[in-house]
Amino acid sequence: MSEWFESWFGEEYVAVYPHRDAAEAEHVVDLIMDHARIPAGCCALDLACGAGRHSKVLAEKWWTCGLDLSEVLLRIAHRETTEAVFTRGDMRVLPFRTGAFQLVVNLFTSFGYFSDDASHMRVVKEVARVTSRGGTFVLDFLNTAHLRDTLVPYDERIIGERVVEQRRTISEDERYVIKRICMRDTDKEYVERVRLFEAGDLTYMLKAAGFEVRHAFGNYDATPLSEESPRVILFGTRV
Ligand SMILES: C[S@@+](CC[C@H](N)C(=O)[O-])C[C@H]1O[C@@H](n2cnc3c(N)ncnc32)[C@H](O)[C@@H]1O
Repeated sequence: MSEWFESWFGEEYVAVYPHRDAAEAEHVVDLIMDHARIPAGCCALDLACGAGRHSKVLAEKWWTCGLDLSEVLLRIAHRETTEAVFTRGDMRVLPFRTGAFQLVVNLFTSFGYFSDDASHMRVVKEVARVTSRGGTFVLDFLNTAHLRDTLVPYDERIIGERVVEQRRTISEDERYVIKRICMRDTDKEYVERVRLFEAGDLTYMLKAAGFEVRHAFGNYDATPLSEESPRVILFGTRV
């Protein structure tokens, strides 16, 4: 049976989340420019690049490669961003040489999708392998503390002529947030399941893989990380 992330990130995902746009991508890249020392001639990797909105902005500054598993999203990325190169791959086994990148980004909760934590750690180790010494890894994840406090169990959105129902729960073992997305017109249901890593867990994983965590922000405007902030954005330097 295929994993949820192999079927969800396709045409329907793009239709349901049209607001995940370029303006937000600009904010993240500004944050990176302001807080990371990126050398001239940098090679950047947008890990789990989706339709390439961050790759597009990164490519205005540095040579950029976007990697993703979804053929559908990569097709859009290719069409809309000719400045970056894109490749299909799995974040658990990166098809790059050791130390190839001075900047690796994993943005907008593109992490925590697997059913075992060894696979999550494997991703961070792969990132550490492909990041050059002194290079930067930016991990932008949901803030579990904030999510637990603000979870909306049910909502409906009208997108074009379609009604999309979204049901959110925390798994019984409290390790995952599960979102069920139902298209009312077709009755098709998709699932998103993300591991609820705390900021401390992520920091631990980065350190264990060989990064020193230099910054921890709570949103793209550089507000400090707190229980109330919506994001956990960690800047790790490869030691
Ligand atoms: C929430 S989307 C974010 C995409 C992009 N970073 C953005 O902000 O628009 C998560 C992305 O992770 C990709 N993905 C999921 N599992 C993956 C895997 N094992 N390896 C590589 N990419 C994966 C999906 O295809 C999807 O494009």
